[in-house]
Amino acid sequence: MANLTIRKLDDALKAELRQRAAGNGRSMEDEVRVILRDAVHQRHGFAPSLPQDQGASPKAGPDAASHGHHEAFPSPQARITLIVGGGIAAYKAMDLIRRLKERSAEVRVVLTKAAQQFVTPLTASALSHQRCYTDLFDPQSEFDAGHIRLARDCDLIVVAPATADLMAKIAGGHADDLATAILLATNRPILLAPAMNPLMWKNPATRRNVDQLRRDGVTMVGPNAGEMAERGEAGTGRMAEPIEIAAAAQALLAPPPPRPLRGKRVLITAGPTHEPIDPVRYIANRSSGKQGYAIAAAAVQAGAEVVLISGPVDLRAPAGVTLTRVESARDMLAAVQAALPADIAIFAAAVADWRVASEGGQKIKKGAGGPPPLQLTENPDILATIARLADGRPPLVIGFAAETENLLDNARAKLARKGCDWIVANDVSPATGVMGGDRNTVHLLMKSADAIAVESWPVMTKDEVASALVARIAQATELHES
Ligand code: C5P
Repeated sequence: MANLTIRKLDDALKAELRQRAAGNGRSMEDEVRVILRDAVHQRHGFAPSLPQDQGASPKAGPDAASHGHHEAFPSPQARITLIVGGGIAAYKAMDLIRRLKERSAEVRVVLTKAAQQFVTPLTASALSHQRCYTDLFDPQSEFDAGHIRLARDCDLIVVAPATADLMAKIAGGHADDLATAILLATNRPILLAPAMNPLMWKNPATRRNVDQLRRDGVTMVGPNAGEMAERGEAGTGRMAEPIEIAAAAQALLAPPPPRPLRGKRVLITAGPTHEPIDPVRYIANRSSGKQGYAIAAAAVQAGAEVVLISGPVDLRAPAGVTLTRVESARDMLAAVQAALPADIAIFAAAVADWRVASEGGQKIKKGAGGPPPLQLTENPDILATIARLADGRPPLVIGFAAETENLLDNARAKLARKGCDWIVANDVSPATGVMGGDRNTVHLLMKSADAIAVESWPVMTKDEVASALVARIAQATELHES
């Protein structure tokens, strides 16, 4: 390579090379290197390097580390710049080089000045089979503007160990050595593996830096809890194990999950309703809201805009969901109407069928007259109301049928009675443990112009039911639009 002079190439070739290099975000020298490497690899039957924008699209499944074998990174030549900070865990970073290379990554190592107190450039270059970089102003650097190239000619930057000091510098945008200059100049994803004394990790200054770095889009793996190198010290601060860091790197290089519901607005009801008897008492049911919340999370993951209208439950709103909390069926109906229009409406709430006709303004007292009579009146049927809207009916309306007997017959009848398109029917008889539990056995009834298709799913967790339902919805939406 040292003898190849780009200046001496003819102008047309140079222009083409310049264009190709710019398109891939590489220097011309690096582009030549990639071309040569691909030529060699093709002769040996390896897959070629992908252009920059495809370089991060994997063929490997997630979490390969947790299985005994190591799948390769997405592109056989995922390029990782590994910055080693100055901490006792630096020795583990040498094992990390091996773990990354096992997954076919090309690893370029940068050692900070402090890191060189723990490991030598010679060790790093022997393990990475590359020269190791240490200085911002390196006359030997084969690159033009070396830190810029190290910052950009890669698919991912891993910092391990990320010391408290290094993290403070990154959070503050410092660039006074090679490592920090690379981190400031990069437009690639950054993965930090923090490692420090537990008190340093807990220190408010570090907490602020961690928050800032997360806001800046930096990903972190660890630190783990355990014993520290210092005698008698334990707590959170140990660097994640190399295998965990390699798995996190692999996950970061994985392709974004498919988002089949992007651009769709999904409205979901969940949980029970509370129907007041007086200011302190109410009628309720045992719904936990878990299934509805799981569907909301799965829909967000599929890229939908999700509005979740929830009765009183003990669950946190899944990230990315717009949550409206309500108490009674009437409040829930009002919230649903206010949230329309929607492309898909899923009614998973266990709405009370009845409410007390005249809610007492004061707490009902025990009296000589015996128990008070509770006159009940019917609640609005939210699902039926929305499914029968002449104007603004969501194109796909899905209801739930929780039954304790004659499951499918009752679900079929409900499909007709409520006017919805699909019914998710489940057996909630006490023996199943579905109410409040984590598992569910469902049958999906889907009405088409001339028939009702029934799919019976095996026992699944509520999360799995949610993902399967969202996948079915995505399929139906796609069919409808094609
Ligand atoms: O009639 P049943 O309560 O069995 O119907 C269940 C389905 O109807 C569920 O999808 C539930 O969310 C919905 N529903 C409703 N409003 C009601 C009663 C039920 O939306 N008042």
